[in-house]
Amino acid sequence: MKNIMIVATGGTIAGVGEIGKSASYQAGEINIDEIIQSIPAINHIAHLSAVQYMNVDSNEMSPARWVQLANYLNELLVREDIDGIVVTHGTDTLDETAYFLNLTLRTYKPVIITGAMRPATAASADGPMNLYQAVALACHEEALGHGVMAVFSDTIYSGRDIQKVNNFKTDAFDKKDFGCLGYMRDDQAYFFARAFKKHTLQSEFSQQPLTSLPKVGIAYYYAGAGSEVLETLAKDCKGIVIAGSGSGNYSKEWIEKVGALSKKGIIIVRSSRVGHGIVFESPVFDEEKQTVPSNTLSPQKARVLLMLALSVTKETEKIREIFNVY
Ligand code: SIN
Repeated sequence: MKNIMIVATGGTIAGVGEIGKSASYQAGEINIDEIIQSIPAINHIAHLSAVQYMNVDSNEMSPARWVQLANYLNELLVREDIDGIVVTHGTDTLDETAYFLNLTLRTYKPVIITGAMRPATAASADGPMNLYQAVALACHEEALGHGVMAVFSDTIYSGRDIQKVNNFKTDAFDKKDFGCLGYMRDDQAYFFARAFKKHTLQSEFSQQPLTSLPKVGIAYYYAGAGSEVLETLAKDCKGIVIAGSGSGNYSKEWIEKVGALSKKGIIIVRSSRVGHGIVFESPVFDEEKQTVPSNTLSPQKARVLLMLALSVTKETEKIREIFNVY
């Protein structure tokens, strides 16, 4: 059997509420050992070790915590007595952490992230099955070299493309237009796709330990939105991601402000508040090519990539290239 380390960070999978109910609870309460004990079959598929790395609601994750977590996981991943890692995490920001780790872990070993929509105390909690399947996937021969993956509701997702699409149902995640990587049936994994964009060992962001990340904010565009939000963010951010309408669009007032801030050296990425599609360069909204299109990344994932990009370069053209390859 493979040696799998579970690194627990909290979330609803460790949540506690009124017995049987799933509506109201506190995330990040119970210890990972208690969750493992509730899944006796898990010890038949792997030699497990577990660490309660933190126990928080995932809304408490932050760039500083991502950096610490990535450095910690990179230390674990070089150990010969660890074949793969499962990270338990709250679902609210799981898509951001999965993408961050996908870009910063220096490994070909399986790293699987999972969580739950129902707290551990709910009738029919979904956490135990998700954790069981995440451990099973971490043991699977074909799981090597896929980058960070997520397991949720019998489905295997890439860390780049996973997106929370439902805030209520147990089948809460989707993979945009790209197809999932595979399915889980009990402890069996069935792959039928591979992540195409650069990740983990091929990622330039995984090559040395991270210390900190430059500040990047997100400005949400809506009909009639004033451009002061861009000015405010520019006061202490090195970069701004715009969650634009349609194909990463915004008003003439914003076009002007974006142009002025770009000239001052703020890197601006245009993404879309629409969940599906792709943002290209736009001769209409950015005639002078001052902004960087987010490609298929959501605003929150574009922010993750822009923070990492700004940690290696301040050049718009280099950042444009980074958004094409990751
Ligand atoms: C959290 O993200 O920590 C709370 C919500 C969840 O895990 O589903």
